[in-house]
Amino acid sequence: MARTDHDTERRLRDEAARHGQTHLFRFWESLTADRRRALLEQIAEIDFEELSRLAETARRGESSEGVDRPFEPSPFVALEEGATSTLAADAVREGERALRAGRVAVLVVAGGQGTRLGFPGPKGTFPIGPISGKSLYQLHAEKILAIERRYRRPIRWYVLTSEATHEDSREFFEANRFFGLVPERVRFIEQGMLPAIDRQGRILLEAPDRVFRSPNGHGGVVDALRRSGALDEMRRDGVDLLFYFQVDNPLVRIADPSFIGHHLAGGAEMSLKIVRKVRPEEKVGVLVMREGQYRIVEYSELSAAESEERLPGGAIRFQAGNIAIHLFSRSFLERVAGDRDALPLHRATKKIPHVDEHGVPVEPSAPNGFKFERFVFDCLPLARGVVAIEVARADEFSPVKNATGSESPETSKADLMALHRRWLAAAGARLPEPANRLRIEISPLFALDADELREKLRANEIPVTDGMHLESR
Ligand code: UD1
Repeated sequence: MARTDHDTERRLRDEAARHGQTHLFRFWESLTADRRRALLEQIAEIDFEELSRLAETARRGESSEGVDRPFEPSPFVALEEGATSTLAADAVREGERALRAGRVAVLVVAGGQGTRLGFPGPKGTFPIGPISGKSLYQLHAEKILAIERRYRRPIRWYVLTSEATHEDSREFFEANRFFGLVPERVRFIEQGMLPAIDRQGRILLEAPDRVFRSPNGHGGVVDALRRSGALDEMRRDGVDLLFYFQVDNPLVRIADPSFIGHHLAGGAEMSLKIVRKVRPEEKVGVLVMREGQYRIVEYSELSAAESEERLPGGAIRFQAGNIAIHLFSRSFLERVAGDRDALPLHRATKKIPHVDEHGVPVEPSAPNGFKFERFVFDCLPLARGVVAIEVARADEFSPVKNATGSESPETSKADLMALHRRWLAAAGARLPEPANRLRIEISPLFALDADELREKLRANEIPVTDGMHLESR
């Protein structure tokens, strides 16, 4: 090995030893020069101090960066107010103006491994179009294309990927010619990875020459935007707003002008859409207030008693469900990205595959250690202004999380078809009976929303039939 490699090795061995992690070099003698170098690179990326701190918190059994009690339900702009007031009409106009001025970029987070869905590829490649079989990525891409056409402005689209989804996502876009988008405007940004530790605080090795690492959570997007130069690029292009959503929700209204307008009118640095929780056991984080700051309490961190609490009228007390649709001001992201420790690391107890002291692979049957993630919604308490706005769940939120049952492809496709049936009915189209069972899909390139559909159908008499996919010709 070259001299510098030896120096690096010595330095890292010392550092590992200082933090009780000498086992990282346990298999050193059996590794080839290349594998040694690869291992050193991974070890060099480890923040030993931080992991020691996290291990100590875990050892003491302290909760990991949850929201401290007491907290209160948070205020939000209720649906009726948000959608119908004069403020609402102004918001739409303001949002449209921002889109026409090219002030808005779009970001999808797609770095998760989609374990619950049990689909082998990146979730974005999952076929979700109920008739067309279009992928989640394609539906999102077509919405962006439709918005570019409507407002006559190019839109930058950032796709947050991770080691697990990066290559496959990029190849999927290439194989599908970016679904009509200009390839230069779509950028794949790979998020960072973090090591995992066992219950004794030892960093786990996935193989004799490899540290076990997993994506650093969607909160990793802030640093990824900075590192990749995306924030600089936005600044250069005069983009000062970033619309954020999760890849798993085919109903998302990307760069919704009303949302943008409310964000601007409220002088917010970060905004979010919420839906009212109707069942205590729903797996959505809830928006709360603690000491005058907005926070999200993850569903896993809300106690059963808290999620079941009711208001006098019977509604759920902590009812503002986070659907992970946000709007960020770029300057706010720049500020958060400037401080490495701005977002805390949350600990999750997991089954983590690793090698034992003999280098033999172990697939644990019970949780054996901790993974760490940053959450993007931890930006909320750092924002100088926050706007939370309620939206109709049926119109905007139906994620694909599980293989079957609730939040599965089946429910998501059904919700998409139901939405499009409502658009058709509102546009005065005659639907064949039984209308509530009609299978129909409307391409975003045909109509992006109910209003556009009404215009299209006014211009053209189109007979609606079961199993129809309304596409743009
Ligand atoms: C998430 C939210 C929850 C919200 C719900 C709405 C968290 C911790 N919780 O829950 O408050 O109510 O969505 O659907 O996010 N991702 C990355 N990189 C990562 C991890 C995740 O890009 O390292 C992406 C995934 O690709 C996905 C999204 O983040 O698009 C959400 O991840 P997921 O694990 O599905 O979150 P949920 O537990 O469903």
